[in-house]
Parts: sequence; structure tokens; C-alpha cells
Amino acid sequence: MPIDLRNNAADRLGRPLRSLRISVTDRCNIRCRYCMPEQEYVWLPRQSILTYEENLRLVGIFASLGMTRVRITGGEPLLRHDLSSLVRLLSRSGYVEDIALTTNGVLLARYADELKQVGLSRVTISLDTLQPGRFREFTRSDRHADVLAGIDVVQAAGFQSTKINSVVIRGTNDDELIDLLEFGRAKQVEVRFIEYMDVGGATRWSLDQVMSKKEMLQVIGARLGRPVPLAQGRGNPERAPAERFSLPDGTKFGIIASTTEPFCRTCDRSRLTADGTWFLCLYARSGVDLRGPIRAGATDADLAALIADSWADRVDRGAEQRLSEPKRGILYQVQGLREDPHREMHTRGG
Ligand code: GTP
Ligand code: 5AD
Ligand code: SF4
Repeated sequence: MPIDLRNNAADRLGRPLRSLRISVTDRCNIRCRYCMPEQEYVWLPRQSILTYEENLRLVGIFASLGMTRVRITGGEPLLRHDLSSLVRLLSRSGYVEDIALTTNGVLLARYADELKQVGLSRVTISLDTLQPGRFREFTRSDRHADVLAGIDVVQAAGFQSTKINSVVIRGTNDDELIDLLEFGRAKQVEVRFIEYMDVGGATRWSLDQVMSKKEMLQVIGARLGRPVPLAQGRGNPERAPAERFSLPDGTKFGIIASTTEPFCRTCDRSRLTADGTWFLCLYARSGVDLRGPIRAGATDADLAALIADSWADRVDRGAEQRLSEPKRGILYQVQGLREDPHREMHTRGG
């Protein structure tokens, strides 16, 4: 029997399954301190990594349950060999309306043109500082100039809706909000400031380092005039995590207030790790193993039933629950992360 539950897969809080974030590798070529602050990591075994054909098959099944948007993440997705092949497969399949990429930008200048040609829709680049020295401290990498070059190549390639993600950490880069906004305006990319989150991997997180959305708006408003909220953004059918604002000069920017104002109530996203573990929430302790059934010969109908049943049971509100914790500290100690690398943000795909 053909399976078409399109638009019907809603979880126990009535949230549809619309967006799938596919991590294609847990490896990264830089070490952002909010994500990978340690010296050593436990990596997913190579033979466990899904092939592009396996990814494509899963995307088809997710699409049959109502998923319309794919975002490719990592680690750093451009480290995966021949990522364009996956984008081409997804784009030709016609399963989804939107194929986006979240990247640190280091390798982007090399790949942006070919990704555009094979059907990538949108690119989001992580960039937390405009200062090369600070970038070095922040990421243990000296590839800052490569990231900036990558942004230029993306813009020249003609991508629409390119965004920059800047995680704001008090005492580290909170003095760069205005510079980053001006950079975004000059490059015609929309900057989104992200509150520092207490996700797995952020072992140096503390509440006092979180600059809240409210504080960011005050700093920006004092220098550039009052930011006016735009209707588009949170709460709209697209369910984007960013709230968007416009400045008097017309510059638009976003704030992702995952830490102080979580958006769990409208969360329509889930995550597939590179080894085929499906997480229903960024903060979930465990995920659903899809690789095992795939490699044991499960049919599309078996997989669709497993996915639909798991989504139907979903009650996750991870970020909201974190908010209600009286003494909010880090999510996992390093030992806990080593026991299960799936707990890492760089494995879950940011
Ligand atoms: P689109 O909605 O596809 O445009 O992308 P996006 O804005 O979700 O993608 P991006 O990878 O740029 O995500 C931005 C940041 O928002 C992430 O890096 C996280 O910090 C945060 N974020 C994304 N998804 C979630 C989520 O499911 N829950 C929470 N709490 N935060 C998230
Ligand atoms: N807090 C907020 N955002 C984070 N990311 C990774 N770790 C954190 C964290 N601790 C996000 C960044 C980056 C994406 C890949 O993951 O936004 O752009
Ligand atoms: Fe969705 Fe969980 Fe993030 Fe809340 S914390 S927005 S439920 S992934």
C-alpha cells in the first residue's frame, strides 16, 4: 500500500514534521569554543556513516510524511567528500522544496559555485567575529580570511537569502554586534545573533555568559535606532527560529533566543546524525536508530511506520525544560560526552 501521510504526521503537541537537518559528518576543521572546546573527541565510526543513497532514501520517506525542508549540517558538511553529489540527488528527486546548508565557510569559496549549479537553495555561514586574532582564539584556526572569501563567492554565485549566524558570548564578542551588522549590510547578508546555548558540547557554558535577546536589542537600539519587529520570522508558517527586526536604515537582522525565549511550541524540526540516528529534539538524550533497520533490509513502509510512530509520540520541549531548571549549568560533563558522541552539538548538526 502506498504511504502518503503528507501533512498528517503531527506530534503529541500538534507540531508537524516539516524540517529535517541532515548531518553528513561529525568532523570539523575548526574548534568553536561554544561547540568543540575540548582537545580530543570520540568520532563516529566510519562504517556507520550513511551513504548518500541511504540519505536520499530517508529523505523520500520523511517527505512522504510531510517534511518539505532539508538543511545539510555537520560538523562541517563541506568536509564530506563530494557533497555536491548529495545535493544533486536531493534536488533531482523533487522530494523537498528547500535544500539549505549550514557551514563554517572555510571551504566555501571552493565549492559555492558547484553547489549552486547542482541545486542548493540557501547557505548560512557561521561567523562570530570580524577580527582575525579573535577568530584564532575563538576557533583555534587561522582561516578567517577564507571564511570572508567564502561569503563573497556565495554572494557572487547568486544565492538568495544568505545568512550569517553569530553566537554572542558575553566578554568574548558582545562588543561586535554593530560591526557585524555593518558587515552584513555591506555584503547584503542577513545577520542572526544567537544566544549562547547550553547544548551538549558547550562544556564551558555558564548563564552569565549568555547575552539575552533583550540586551542585544538595547545595545543595537542605542547605536542604530530602534529595531522594529518584522512579522516574518517566528510564528509564521515557516517556523524559523529567528525573530527578525528592521533598523531605521532598512537593515534587517534576526535574533535566535533559544536560551531565554525558546520556540519549542512551534518546533517542526528534527535531526539525522551522520550515522543515521534520528533525534526529535536538540536536547534529547537519545535518538531513534534508522541505520540498523535500513541495513537489516527494512522496507520503505517499515521505515515510514517507525518514523511516523516516533513522531506521533514526540513530547520534547528541551529548551523550555532547560529554562525552568533552577540552577542551570552545563548539560553534560566531558565524560558524559565521551560515553556517547551523539550528545555533542557537532554530531547533532548545530
Ligand atoms: P532555517 O529555519 O532552515 O532557515 O534554518 P535555521 O535558522 O534553523 O538554521 P541554522 O542552522 O542557521 O540554525 C541557527 C541556530 O538556531 C542553530 O545553530 C541553533 O543555535 C539554533 N537552533 C536551530 N535549530 C534549533 C532547534 O531545533 N532548537 C533550538 N532550541 N535551537 C535551534
Ligand atoms: N550555542 C548556540 N549556537 C550554537 N551552535 C553550536 N553550538 C552552539 C551553542 N553552544 C550553532 C551555531 C552554528 C551552528 C552550526 O551551530 O549557530 O552556526
Ligand atoms: Fe525543538 Fe527541542 Fe529545540 Fe525546543 S529544544 S526548539 S523542542 S529541538
